Amino acid sequence: MPGSLVCFDPACRRRFSITDVLYNCPACGGLLEAEYSPPPADAPALRKTWRERRLSESPLDASGVWRYREMLPFLDDYSAVVTLREGNTPLLDAPAAAAYGGLDGLQFKHQGYNPSGSFKDNGMTAGVAQARRLGMRTVACVSTGNTSASMAAYAAAAGIKAVIFIPHGNIAYGKLAQALEYGALTIQVEANFDQILALVRELAEREGIYLLNSVNPFRIEGQKTIMIEMLDQRGWKTPDWVVLPGGNLGNVSAFGKALRELREAGLIARLPRLAVIQAEGAAPFYDLFRSAAEGPLRPVGDPQTLATAIRIGAPVSWPKALREIRASVGLVESVAEQDIADAKAVIGRAGIGCEPASAATLAGIRKLSAAGRLRRDEDVVAVLTGHLLKDPDYIHRYHTGQLDDPGGARLASTFGNRPIVAPNDPARIAAILREK
Ligand code: F0G
Repeated sequence: MPGSLVCFDPACRRRFSITDVLYNCPACGGLLEAEYSPPPADAPALRKTWRERRLSESPLDASGVWRYREMLPFLDDYSAVVTLREGNTPLLDAPAAAAYGGLDGLQFKHQGYNPSGSFKDNGMTAGVAQARRLGMRTVACVSTGNTSASMAAYAAAAGIKAVIFIPHGNIAYGKLAQALEYGALTIQVEANFDQILALVRELAEREGIYLLNSVNPFRIEGQKTIMIEMLDQRGWKTPDWVVLPGGNLGNVSAFGKALRELREAGLIARLPRLAVIQAEGAAPFYDLFRSAAEGPLRPVGDPQTLATAIRIGAPVSWPKALREIRASVGLVESVAEQDIADAKAVIGRAGIGCEPASAATLAGIRKLSAAGRLRRDEDVVAVLTGHLLKDPDYIHRYHTGQLDDPGGARLASTFGNRPIVAPNDPARIAAILREK
């Protein structure tokens, strides 16, 4: 077998077959991770192979995930793969956003350019491949919206049944719309993300459904390619920092694992520092980091943020995330609702745009720069996790001065751009144009 599942807990480290249907260690309950040996081929050969595959039209090579398959060799047969050409997302220079963030330069790795509009697609193609390899007929997840949109798309493409569980009334409309359009059985539960996750884990075990939340180690394997592709695009020049939003903390776990494995394979010489940004009202990982304790993480009982994607109070992957923050000498920061909203508008004005959770990155960068924890000349990559159109309601409210924070306080429309209603009258419209 190419690899095995290993318990993440250093005190346990039990090993299981790569084809066992497990989300936690049956012995100690710890998180699981995929481990491979021997390490992949030599670095120059890999770089060359990956470059050459960009010219290939074969679906596997054209995928921005499977192009890098040597780094996630858990399949013994690639016929299980369903690809929607995920990954292949751009690295965009954003000088105006850099200036706002107090930096000389800033690059956005924009995962919103994925087929379902978020970074979840990188992980989902891998998770669904594993589901097919195992012969699973139904997949399920609980989601703040993007995981469900992505899972619904990949399950539909693979011809397997998708069941999604979402917190009733608390997901952005664009995401719910996707799940419906892709044909997933959609269950809106009157509970929050953390409560629903506990429920779904029980159901998955009882009903033989394959769980595709980020506790699924194969999702993490797929999300590693976000870092691999970013470094490939930069000619393997390691940035000083990689900044990303944190919710359930699967993504930072994937990034850290990828970077350590790339270093082991000789593809990079050092690790970038990872900076995870949480929303103030849903920041249990920030609290843990600030306390300098090894854990356990103390959940936030009633997490609140308008960035609904990261409205999570009990992030499952915190032990992995903490390891990666420590390994990379990284940090965790939290940001206010107003700062997320304004940073989001600044990213929009750069012609780029993103959903609210993604904008926590720039808000965090600005805060860290102001505090002197990021230097102006440092080389920073921020990961924008979701597409602008995921949450149009938030955008309209912000620009028209109608956006209230979760406590009901009105947020300032600092960079507002209100539409103007005009009569059908060329003279009056010409006057508006002159005035503006
Ligand atoms: N950004 C976006 C747009 C997300 O959808 C999520 C997570 C995150 C950031 C946080 O990533 O959980 O790996 O730390 N969304 C999940 C979902 C929880 O259900 O779609 P994380």
